[in-house]
Amino acid sequence: MTKNIIKFLQKVGSILSLLLLILALTSTSWAINTDIVTNSDGIYQYRTIHNSEGIGKFYLGREIAKVMGHEGAGWLERDSRSYQEKPQNAINNLELKSTDIVADIGAGTGYFTFRISPLVPEGKVLAIDIQPEMLELINFVNHEENITNVETILGDLDNPKIPPSSVDIALLVDTYHEFEYPREMMLGIVEGLKPGGRVVLLEYRSENPMIMIKGLHKMSEKQVKKEMEAVGLVWQDTRDFLPQQHFLVFKKPDISL
Ligand SMILES: C[S@@+](CC[C@H](N)C(=O)[O-])C[C@H]1O[C@@H](n2cnc3c(N)ncnc32)[C@H](O)[C@@H]1O
Repeated sequence: MTKNIIKFLQKVGSILSLLLLILALTSTSWAINTDIVTNSDGIYQYRTIHNSEGIGKFYLGREIAKVMGHEGAGWLERDSRSYQEKPQNAINNLELKSTDIVADIGAGTGYFTFRISPLVPEGKVLAIDIQPEMLELINFVNHEENITNVETILGDLDNPKIPPSSVDIALLVDTYHEFEYPREMMLGIVEGLKPGGRVVLLEYRSENPMIMIKGLHKMSEKQVKKEMEAVGLVWQDTRDFLPQQHFLVFKKPDISL
């Protein structure tokens, strides 16, 4: 009798183990299959397993970084930035004309906006950001210093809200890698550029592991080119004169030529 009970329990045990094994195997393959999901238009992919600095959304093989919150405004204004990143050299290389209309996209605290505005006295700077708290800082400085050629624009995640064909140069400093909708944003920027207008991107160089910036907040020249060419921009130049960032120049083709 006891022997029969033991045999019965052994049988039940093996059946249970088999069931558990099947469950484990099917759930693993289900997890692998569902880890990569492509959205209906095929532009973006989403992964549940991803870098903690990113949002789990991928564009042309790159994971999009989390947006730097307005709480980090002090970091953008740090004194050491002037010698660590040499922003003045970057601004000199923009080769601005006094009449230029410049869009500073992802303007943050206006670190670049307010260094550029005196150089375009007959033009203006459109300071665009998605965080109203950042634009409030810019509006405060505008008011305090009586600056008349800086306009703030509250953009959408997928739309910079630049009037069509209105801008000579779109500047994106340490910003592009954070765009949640990079393709839509860049198409909006291209539309906002005058024919022949330029896009200048500054991105920390991911080719150099000695640049101590989080991985998803750096980009390679190759990846930037791939993503800009995908929206019809034409690469002009990559100048690596800055200590940590690529300085990449692209042009909107002038189809009237
Ligand atoms: C790292 S900060 C850089 C700020 C500034 N360019 C600088 O170098 O001091 C990136 C900024 O991009 C903004 N940003 C992120 N996604 C954006 C979008 N889709 N449109 C406009 N701004 C965006 C963020 O709100 C943030 O202020």
